[in-house]
Amino acid sequence: MPVLLIVLVVSLLGTSFAAESLRTAAHGKVRIGTAAKPGFITEDSRYAAALAREFDQLEPENEMKWSLLRPAHDRFDFAPADELVRFAKQNGMAVRGHTLLWHQAVPKWLGEGQWTWNELSQLMADHIQTVVKHFAGSVYAWDVVNEAFHPDGSLRSTLWYDSPGIGAEGPYGYIERAFVLAHAADPKAKLFYNDYAFEAGGPKFEAILAMARDFKKRGVPLHGIGFQCHFTLDSITAEKLAKTMRAFTDLGLEVHITELDVRLPVDGTGHATSQDLERQADVYGEAVRACLGVRGCNAIQVWGFSDARSWIPRFFPGYGAGTLFDQEYRAKPAYTAVIDALSQPAATAASRK
Ligand code: XIL
Repeated sequence: MPVLLIVLVVSLLGTSFAAESLRTAAHGKVRIGTAAKPGFITEDSRYAAALAREFDQLEPENEMKWSLLRPAHDRFDFAPADELVRFAKQNGMAVRGHTLLWHQAVPKWLGEGQWTWNELSQLMADHIQTVVKHFAGSVYAWDVVNEAFHPDGSLRSTLWYDSPGIGAEGPYGYIERAFVLAHAADPKAKLFYNDYAFEAGGPKFEAILAMARDFKKRGVPLHGIGFQCHFTLDSITAEKLAKTMRAFTDLGLEVHITELDVRLPVDGTGHATSQDLERQADVYGEAVRACLGVRGCNAIQVWGFSDARSWIPRFFPGYGAGTLFDQEYRAKPAYTAVIDALSQPAATAASRK
């Protein structure tokens, strides 16, 4: 056989050819999810089609945050989040909930109100109970608390830390209480602590690990750790990420990759160089390989899947092109890298450590 033909046959037999979507490639190994917005589903048919075709899990990008769920003191608005839950059910997708307590997306009425300790404490309890009960049976895992630590490992000053937190039992005050409340509201939901910029180790990682150990020791209902994974080209290797993940799975916790993206420097039209797109593919591949190598890493979720609909350009000026599909919904090298990593035989459960 001529060499070229052999190369062709081998590459056709190769793994990337076998899977027609991320969700088929991930099937039986991990859940593959994305952040999603209901407005994009209704206004952009290409968005809706790719969302249903590629993913078996979604998480509302904003619709389960305080400011959207509870726009006024006397009013909850569940409609946009319910719309996403409906879409997920229609398309056989699981739903992650995000997030019950965060220092951002605090509605004005709440952040600027004058509250006594008791009132705030009651507001927090009502919120968690109402929201978790509303989505019980639909949301299988919650980011109960998001981004509570500073880079140096100290606890961030927030509405909750500064008030219900102080004086609450235990060293982690409001965080612990939030987990207890969420568990009481839906004992079946998996409860996660979610954060960023600790994935490669360091003081924030040490602080989260110390909290996780303390919670496990004292029976606080913490079930998993969310690794956001907002990466740049030089963020991480699979080995390093897997090592950090194992620190938690060794405690009996699950881990999820919750917000994966890899932002690139872009030109005025939002395009990156082809070289950077190849390097981006490597970073995506490393993240997926890390998760698949760790027993207890059960979900890989990206923070948006198309460069046409990504949070990155607004939040990181000069950066963009951070997702798996380009602005025209064409698969990028990163997409192929993820499919390839998901399709490796080494990704089977038995080979995980
Ligand atoms: C971001 C959303 O993508 C934006 O649309 C919104 O304006 C701000 O929040 N970490 C998180 C997410 O946990 O909730 C953030 O989402 C991105 C960083």
